[in-house]
Amino acid sequence: CTAPAEKQLLAGKTITITAGPTREALDPVRFISNHSSGKMGYALAEAALALGAQVNLISGPVNIAPPSGANLTLIESAEQLLQASLNLAVQSDAFIGCAAVADYRAANVAEQKMKKQGDELTLTLVKNPDVIAAVANLKAQRPYTVGFAAETQDLANYAKGKLHSKNLDMICANDVSKTGLGFNSDHNALTLFWQDSSLDLAISSKTDLALNVMKELAQRL
Ligand code: CTP
Ligand code: CA
Repeated sequence: CTAPAEKQLLAGKTITITAGPTREALDPVRFISNHSSGKMGYALAEAALALGAQVNLISGPVNIAPPSGANLTLIESAEQLLQASLNLAVQSDAFIGCAAVADYRAANVAEQKMKKQGDELTLTLVKNPDVIAAVANLKAQRPYTVGFAAETQDLANYAKGKLHSKNLDMICANDVSKTGLGFNSDHNALTLFWQDSSLDLAISSKTDLALNVMKELAQRL
Protein backbone atom coordinates (compact mmCIF):
# COMPACT_ATOMS: atom_id res chain seq x y z
CA CYS A 1 0.00 0.00 0.00
CA THR A 2 1.01 3.58 -0.52
CA ALA A 3 1.20 6.34 2.11
CA PRO A 4 -1.01 9.39 1.35
CA ALA A 5 1.95 11.67 0.55
CA GLU A 6 3.35 9.07 -1.84
CA LYS A 7 0.15 9.06 -3.88
CA GLN A 8 1.23 12.46 -5.21
CA LEU A 9 4.91 11.69 -5.95
CA LEU A 10 4.28 11.37 -9.68
CA ALA A 11 1.19 13.60 -9.92
CA GLY A 12 1.15 15.51 -13.19
CA LYS A 13 3.76 13.20 -14.77
CA THR A 14 3.20 10.91 -17.74
CA ILE A 15 5.18 7.68 -17.73
CA THR A 16 5.37 5.30 -20.69
CA ILE A 17 6.36 1.72 -19.88
CA THR A 18 7.04 -1.17 -22.27
CA ALA A 19 6.48 -4.72 -21.03
CA GLY A 20 6.53 -8.36 -22.06
CA PRO A 21 8.11 -10.10 -25.03
CA THR A 22 7.96 -9.24 -28.70
CA ARG A 23 6.93 -11.83 -31.29
CA GLU A 24 8.65 -11.93 -34.65
CA ALA A 25 6.63 -13.76 -37.29
CA LEU A 26 8.19 -16.50 -39.43
CA ASP A 27 4.97 -17.28 -41.33
CA PRO A 28 1.22 -16.87 -40.60
CA VAL A 29 1.32 -19.49 -37.79
CA ARG A 30 4.85 -19.33 -36.33
CA PHE A 31 7.04 -16.82 -34.52
CA ILE A 32 10.30 -16.30 -32.60
CA SER A 33 9.91 -14.94 -29.07
CA ASN A 34 11.25 -15.30 -25.50
CA HIS A 35 10.07 -16.20 -21.99
CA SER A 36 9.38 -12.68 -20.69
CA SER A 37 6.25 -12.84 -18.49
CA GLY A 38 5.63 -9.08 -18.42
CA LYS A 39 5.36 -9.17 -14.61
CA MET A 40 8.04 -6.53 -13.95
CA GLY A 41 6.67 -4.09 -16.54
CA TYR A 42 3.10 -4.50 -15.31
CA ALA A 43 4.28 -4.05 -11.69
CA LEU A 44 6.02 -0.82 -12.76
CA ALA A 45 2.80 0.38 -14.38
CA GLU A 46 0.82 -0.39 -11.19
CA ALA A 47 3.46 1.41 -9.09
CA ALA A 48 3.44 4.49 -11.31
CA LEU A 49 -0.37 4.64 -11.07
CA ALA A 50 -0.17 4.25 -7.27
CA LEU A 51 2.16 7.28 -7.15
CA GLY A 52 -0.29 9.38 -9.14
CA ALA A 53 1.19 9.24 -12.66
CA GLN A 54 -0.65 9.00 -15.95
CA VAL A 55 0.55 5.71 -17.41
CA ASN A 56 0.90 4.46 -20.97
CA LEU A 57 1.59 0.72 -21.00
CA ILE A 58 2.85 -0.74 -24.29
CA SER A 59 2.67 -4.49 -24.02
CA GLY A 60 3.61 -7.58 -25.96
CA PRO A 61 1.51 -10.74 -25.55
CA VAL A 62 1.27 -11.68 -21.83
CA ASN A 63 -1.21 -13.36 -19.49
CA ILE A 64 -1.74 -10.53 -17.03
CA ALA A 65 -4.83 -8.38 -16.57
CA PRO A 66 -3.99 -4.79 -17.59
CA PRO A 67 -3.76 -2.32 -14.67
CA SER A 68 -7.00 -0.35 -14.45
CA GLY A 69 -6.36 3.26 -15.25
CA ALA A 70 -3.45 2.66 -17.65
CA ASN A 71 -3.68 3.55 -21.33
CA LEU A 72 -2.87 0.17 -22.92
CA THR A 73 -1.33 -0.31 -26.37
CA LEU A 74 -0.90 -3.92 -27.52
CA ILE A 75 1.95 -4.75 -29.89
CA GLU A 76 3.54 -7.90 -31.25
CA SER A 77 6.72 -7.14 -33.20
CA ALA A 78 9.72 -4.98 -32.33
CA GLU A 79 8.86 -2.71 -35.25
CA GLN A 80 5.34 -2.16 -33.84
CA LEU A 81 6.91 -1.54 -30.43
CA LEU A 82 9.21 1.08 -31.96
CA GLN A 83 6.32 2.97 -33.60
CA ALA A 84 4.15 2.96 -30.45
CA SER A 85 7.14 3.93 -28.29
CA LEU A 86 8.19 6.91 -30.41
CA ASN A 87 4.57 8.16 -30.60
CA LEU A 88 4.09 8.04 -26.82
CA ALA A 89 7.65 8.95 -25.72
CA VAL A 90 7.37 12.49 -27.06
CA GLN A 91 4.33 13.07 -24.81
CA SER A 92 6.01 11.55 -21.74
CA ASP A 93 8.14 12.75 -18.83
CA ALA A 94 9.76 9.33 -18.52
CA PHE A 95 10.07 6.23 -20.70
CA ILE A 96 10.86 2.85 -19.14
CA GLY A 97 11.89 0.08 -21.54
CA CYS A 98 11.14 -3.12 -19.66
CA ALA A 99 10.10 -5.14 -22.73
CA ALA A 100 12.23 -8.11 -23.74
CA VAL A 101 12.68 -7.07 -27.36
CA ALA A 102 13.70 -9.87 -29.74
CA ASP A 103 17.14 -8.88 -31.00
CA TYR A 104 16.47 -10.36 -34.46
CA ARG A 105 13.53 -11.02 -36.79
CA ALA A 106 13.18 -13.11 -39.93
CA ALA A 107 14.69 -11.44 -43.00
CA ASN A 108 11.62 -12.59 -44.95
CA VAL A 109 8.24 -13.49 -43.48
CA ALA A 110 6.63 -16.28 -45.54
CA GLU A 111 3.17 -15.31 -46.80
CA GLN A 112 1.93 -18.91 -46.61
CA LYS A 113 2.55 -21.50 -43.93
CA MET A 114 6.02 -22.96 -44.53
CA LYS A 115 5.96 -26.62 -45.57
CA LYS A 116 8.29 -29.16 -43.98
CA GLN A 117 11.04 -30.08 -46.46
CA GLY A 118 14.58 -31.40 -45.88
CA ASP A 119 16.25 -32.55 -42.63
CA GLU A 120 17.66 -29.08 -41.91
CA LEU A 121 16.21 -25.61 -42.14
CA THR A 122 18.31 -22.44 -42.09
CA LEU A 123 16.60 -19.18 -41.12
CA THR A 124 18.13 -15.84 -42.03
CA LEU A 125 17.55 -13.25 -39.31
CA VAL A 126 18.16 -9.50 -39.38
CA LYS A 127 18.73 -7.18 -36.42
CA ASN A 128 15.71 -5.39 -34.95
CA PRO A 129 15.77 -1.65 -34.25
CA ASP A 130 16.94 -0.68 -30.75
CA VAL A 131 13.76 0.84 -29.34
CA ILE A 132 15.16 2.40 -26.18
CA ALA A 133 18.18 3.85 -27.99
CA ALA A 134 15.79 5.44 -30.51
CA VAL A 135 13.82 7.04 -27.64
CA ALA A 136 16.96 8.12 -25.75
CA ASN A 137 18.34 9.75 -28.88
CA LEU A 138 15.24 11.82 -29.68
CA LYS A 139 16.40 15.36 -30.42
CA ALA A 140 13.23 17.07 -29.21
CA GLN A 141 10.82 16.11 -26.40
CA ARG A 142 13.20 13.46 -25.12
CA PRO A 143 11.84 11.80 -21.95
CA TYR A 144 13.98 10.71 -18.97
CA THR A 145 14.91 7.28 -20.31
CA VAL A 146 15.24 4.14 -18.20
CA GLY A 147 16.43 0.76 -19.50
CA PHE A 148 16.54 -2.74 -18.09
CA ALA A 149 19.33 -5.27 -18.41
CA ALA A 150 19.19 -8.96 -17.52
CA GLU A 151 22.69 -10.43 -17.35
CA THR A 152 24.16 -13.82 -16.42
CA GLN A 153 27.70 -12.48 -15.79
CA ASP A 154 29.63 -9.24 -15.20
CA LEU A 155 26.41 -7.37 -14.28
CA ALA A 156 27.85 -3.94 -13.47
CA ASN A 157 30.08 -3.72 -16.55
CA TYR A 158 27.45 -4.84 -19.03
CA ALA A 159 24.75 -2.67 -17.47
CA LYS A 160 26.95 0.44 -17.39
CA GLY A 161 28.03 -0.30 -20.96
CA LYS A 162 24.36 -0.25 -22.04
CA LEU A 163 23.68 2.93 -20.01
CA HIS A 164 26.40 4.69 -22.02
CA SER A 165 26.00 3.12 -25.47
CA LYS A 166 22.20 3.63 -25.53
CA ASN A 167 22.42 7.14 -24.00
CA LEU A 168 20.14 6.20 -21.06
CA ASP A 169 19.62 8.24 -17.87
CA MET A 170 19.20 5.14 -15.68
CA ILE A 171 19.37 1.36 -16.03
CA CYS A 172 17.89 -1.34 -13.79
CA ALA A 173 20.06 -4.44 -13.88
CA ASN A 174 19.22 -7.89 -12.68
CA ASP A 175 21.43 -10.92 -12.28
CA VAL A 176 19.51 -13.78 -13.92
CA SER A 177 22.21 -16.32 -13.02
CA LYS A 178 20.70 -16.43 -9.50
CA THR A 179 18.16 -19.25 -9.65
CA GLY A 180 14.53 -18.30 -9.39
CA LEU A 181 15.08 -14.61 -10.04
CA GLY A 182 14.10 -12.61 -13.08
CA PHE A 183 12.09 -13.77 -16.07
CA ASN A 184 9.09 -15.74 -14.78
CA SER A 185 9.53 -15.20 -11.04
CA ASP A 186 7.38 -13.05 -8.74
CA HIS A 187 10.57 -11.88 -7.04
CA ASN A 188 13.62 -10.06 -8.27
CA ALA A 189 16.68 -8.12 -7.11
CA LEU A 190 17.87 -5.05 -8.99
CA THR A 191 20.86 -2.76 -9.06
CA LEU A 192 20.10 0.71 -10.41
CA PHE A 193 22.86 2.58 -12.24
CA TRP A 194 23.10 6.25 -13.21
CA GLN A 195 26.08 7.92 -14.91
CA ASP A 196 27.85 8.51 -11.58
CA SER A 197 26.08 6.45 -8.91
CA SER A 198 24.37 3.14 -8.21
CA LEU A 199 21.88 1.66 -5.74
CA ASP A 200 21.26 -1.97 -4.76
CA LEU A 201 17.62 -2.95 -4.22
CA ALA A 202 17.55 -6.24 -2.29
CA ILE A 203 15.48 -9.27 -3.27
CA SER A 204 11.79 -8.60 -2.83
CA SER A 205 8.51 -8.96 -4.69
CA LYS A 206 8.30 -7.32 -8.10
CA THR A 207 5.53 -5.15 -6.58
CA ASP A 208 7.85 -3.75 -3.88
CA LEU A 209 10.78 -3.37 -6.26
CA ALA A 210 8.63 -1.54 -8.77
CA LEU A 211 7.52 0.96 -6.09
CA ASN A 212 11.15 1.57 -5.11
CA VAL A 213 12.21 2.06 -8.74
CA MET A 214 9.35 4.54 -9.21
CA LYS A 215 10.28 6.47 -6.05
CA GLU A 216 13.88 6.78 -7.29
CA LEU A 217 12.58 7.94 -10.66
CA ALA A 218 10.20 10.46 -9.04
CA GLN A 219 13.16 12.16 -7.32
CA ARG A 220 14.80 12.73 -10.69
CA LEU A 221 11.89 14.10 -12.75
N1 CTP B 1 16.14 -2.98 -26.05
C1 CTP B 1 15.42 -2.28 -27.00
N2 CTP B 1 15.44 -2.70 -28.30
C2 CTP B 1 16.15 -3.78 -28.68
C3 CTP B 1 16.90 -4.49 -27.72
C4 CTP B 1 16.87 -4.07 -26.41
O1 CTP B 1 14.76 -1.30 -26.66
N3 CTP B 1 16.14 -4.14 -29.96
C5 CTP B 1 16.12 -2.48 -24.67
C6 CTP B 1 15.46 -3.39 -23.66
O2 CTP B 1 14.07 -3.10 -23.55
C7 CTP B 1 16.22 -3.03 -22.37
C8 CTP B 1 17.61 -2.64 -22.87
O3 CTP B 1 17.47 -2.35 -24.26
O4 CTP B 1 15.68 -1.87 -21.76
C9 CTP B 1 18.64 -3.71 -22.69
O5 CTP B 1 18.21 -4.90 -23.34
P1 CTP B 1 19.25 -6.08 -23.51
O6 CTP B 1 18.60 -7.21 -24.27
O7 CTP B 1 19.85 -6.35 -22.17
O8 CTP B 1 20.38 -5.36 -24.39
P2 CTP B 1 20.91 -5.58 -25.85
O9 CTP B 1 21.37 -4.24 -26.32
O10 CTP B 1 19.91 -6.27 -26.71
O11 CTP B 1 22.20 -6.48 -25.64
P3 CTP B 1 22.36 -8.07 -25.45
O12 CTP B 1 21.01 -8.74 -25.61
O13 CTP B 1 23.34 -8.48 -26.49
O14 CTP B 1 22.92 -8.23 -24.04
CA1 CA C 1 18.88 -8.27 -26.23
